Amino acid sequence: MKRREFLSTTLAVAAAGWAPRSAQASDGLVEVLLGEPIGDIAPELHGQFTEHIGEVVYDGIWVGENSKIPNLGGIRKALVDHLRQLRVPVIRWPGGCFADSYNWRDGVGPRTQRPVRTNFWDNTTQLCQAPDGPQKYDPNTFGTAEFMRFCQLCGSKPYVAANVRSLTPHDFDEWVEYCNSPAGSTTLAQTRAADGSPEPYNVLYWGIGNESWGCGGDFRPEEYAVEFRRFTSWVPDYGLKLRFIGSGPGADMRDPQVSWTRGFLENLVAKSPQLLARLYGLSMHYYCGTTGKGDSLEYTPDEWYQMLGQADVMDSLVPQHWLALGEYDKEHKVKLLVDEWGAWHKTTPLGPSYLFNYVPSLRDALVTALTLDIFNRHAEKLAMCNDAQLVNNINTLFLAREDRFVATTIFHVFDMYKSHQGGRSLRLVCDAPGISYGAGKTLWGLAGSASLQGKTLVVTVVNPHASDPCVAEVSLRGGAAKSAQVTVLTAPDIHAHNDFDNPNSVVPKTGPAGVSGPRFSWTFQPASVTKLEIALA
Ligand code: AHR
Repeated sequence: MKRREFLSTTLAVAAAGWAPRSAQASDGLVEVLLGEPIGDIAPELHGQFTEHIGEVVYDGIWVGENSKIPNLGGIRKALVDHLRQLRVPVIRWPGGCFADSYNWRDGVGPRTQRPVRTNFWDNTTQLCQAPDGPQKYDPNTFGTAEFMRFCQLCGSKPYVAANVRSLTPHDFDEWVEYCNSPAGSTTLAQTRAADGSPEPYNVLYWGIGNESWGCGGDFRPEEYAVEFRRFTSWVPDYGLKLRFIGSGPGADMRDPQVSWTRGFLENLVAKSPQLLARLYGLSMHYYCGTTGKGDSLEYTPDEWYQMLGQADVMDSLVPQHWLALGEYDKEHKVKLLVDEWGAWHKTTPLGPSYLFNYVPSLRDALVTALTLDIFNRHAEKLAMCNDAQLVNNINTLFLAREDRFVATTIFHVFDMYKSHQGGRSLRLVCDAPGISYGAGKTLWGLAGSASLQGKTLVVTVVNPHASDPCVAEVSLRGGAAKSAQVTVLTAPDIHAHNDFDNPNSVVPKTGPAGVSGPRFSWTFQPASVTKLEIALA
């Protein structure tokens, strides 16, 4: 469906400022139902993921203590500063596929004495062509103590993925012992103290493998259920309620892989329904891939919509797996996680050892925003979500190369959306003319989410239209605005992006919104992410 003809006249208004409003008749509706809470938005829905892959750890996070790059004991300072700004609640490590090849013992003890090991990703075509370096032969300089320090510096909780494919439950128990045994209590507690932390790290989140249907061991769900039981049986807990996270499905657009969720749960409860209590959550992965040339910066408007439509599949994946969980866990005590998600485009390497790295554009900002809105709308089902990956990789928030560092479009979306963290998600209904693209496909005209904390209502909305604004009536059912601030992320060109040479091509703009009352008209700019922070009367 085409937007109304009169909208072209409002383009002039849109071009005049960052927060255009229109007194004209509305083309759409954004309705916030203040009396219909969905659930609390766990801050952990804004988690991040880091893996020993390409240049994520070396040199994205770890630059070394003697580097000329500003660092905090070897950790890139600019990265820490930005993550503190985002209030990143949790960081997952060390993989990904790498996790099921990693021996944690290689990464403890004096850094100079740690062994150098072949990285899991060494046999990728790209790394084969790269010169030798820590991306191919991991020096283990960045191990458990360094990761924990990184988390502490950022104010984030650690989420550690265990090796199920190539280590044993005994190794896992000892990793927990290294991390969590009381100060001075065990030989591993002494090793930890020598590594810098006499006090335990008290790690709560433990992933039991990664993609266990694939790189994590090629298990069938019934086989993985056995591994999950073995790995989580009688783990030393040191008085903590450890949160074990099961390796869930690798969903894709054609197949949500619900059979994995069902197969795993069925075989877990077959032994004893009590075992559900051991499963804090089941983690799904979903990457929306590129069409056409697969390039992150070159795409047609049709490919723009196609990509956003693929990202939107998350909205059906979450409830599908939630329903499957409910077949075995009637009380829904087990939560869903999405501990890897993002838009996966062709690599545009900054250097030969940057794996899966690309320069994100405005399109990836909209993918990220609409995905975070989906998570908010399913807040009661989700315990944690982790963007893949933090730096120099897929859906990356930062590009880092030696002394250069830039925040991508995706960083700015997380920065805008952090106001939702800890809020109570409210039902939000959008109604706007759909957008036709491709061969008979349609994408919604507006989508978003809302959350409430005290008297502050946060409403985020994506207008995916590549060229048209959308005039909408914003209606607060059960409340009224006293005043509001607006932040808009957009750019005149849908291919706009930030890179080392142009770090500020796409940055959000904030200002007073000048609206009040239970209803007001708002013009959502083309290809934009908008946040309205509304003080309720
Ligand atoms: O994020 C890159 C890789 O994608 C991860 O290692 C793996 O879990 C997934 O397939």
